[in-house]
Amino acid sequence: MSVAKRDLGERKVTTHRLIEMKQRGEKISMLTAYDYSMARIIDEAGMDVILVGDSASNVMAGNTTTLPITLDQMIYHGKSVVKAVRRALVIVDLPFGTYQGNSKEAISSAIRVMKETHADCIKMEGGSEIRESVERILSAGIPVMGHLGLTPQSINKFGTYTVRAREETEANKLIADAHLLEDIGCFGIVLEKIPAALAAQVASELTIPMIGIGAGKGVDGQVLVMHDMLGITEGFSPRFLRRYANLKESITSAVQAYIEDVKRQDFPNEREQY
Ligand code: KIV
Repeated sequence: MSVAKRDLGERKVTTHRLIEMKQRGEKISMLTAYDYSMARIIDEAGMDVILVGDSASNVMAGNTTTLPITLDQMIYHGKSVVKAVRRALVIVDLPFGTYQGNSKEAISSAIRVMKETHADCIKMEGGSEIRESVERILSAGIPVMGHLGLTPQSINKFGTYTVRAREETEANKLIADAHLLEDIGCFGIVLEKIPAALAAQVASELTIPMIGIGAGKGVDGQVLVMHDMLGITEGFSPRFLRRYANLKESITSAVQAYIEDVKRQDFPNEREQY
């Protein structure tokens, strides 16, 4: 679909609009953001969905997994992003350990996120194992996006970040989980790092949008981690990642130029002082 045909007006993107986009074949763009300044740029550029991902644990806090990030930290990032966004739908990840234990804890985590960040909805990793928690959150009127395939909060169970659901049993469970999440009322699902043919099959069977990351082009939209696609992170180059900029190089040159100017007393000059 051409940019001209897309609705880039101020009209806020809703979960309902994402389902309409799927129905008319318009692909959904989704990107992570964790702070006010970047969220503002991304929203003004016309992104449909901004995910305050728990990947903040890696790219903002420098942890090797998403496990350590806390609910308070996710709320801090969520608040910062929501303040900046006018149009995009804002989703906040429920972090590890705040919903898997029991549904009472899950609902209180989700309510805190919604009350304190003013985000539009939340995302949770898993299928049938977390059914009760998802249902309880949905029953409180909080829209939920699911997340299947490679679910980084379960890295200690998987042991690696390789492609999931290549085997028939795991693929069948993923298909069943996707149907379950749709049936209980989720508005969409992230499919991470699974074979493209499986992702396309799930997207064609379900009416809610499937947003892929490393799941091929047969899904209803794509999501990437902002620091990866802008070329800020290093040493992470999975096949699915397309880099749209090399900000690490640009930032390094800018910072080095500034250091140089300070050292040779070129900055500030006459016009840059009072
Ligand atoms: O936390 C995150 O950034 C995510 C995306 C990888 C989908 O969940």
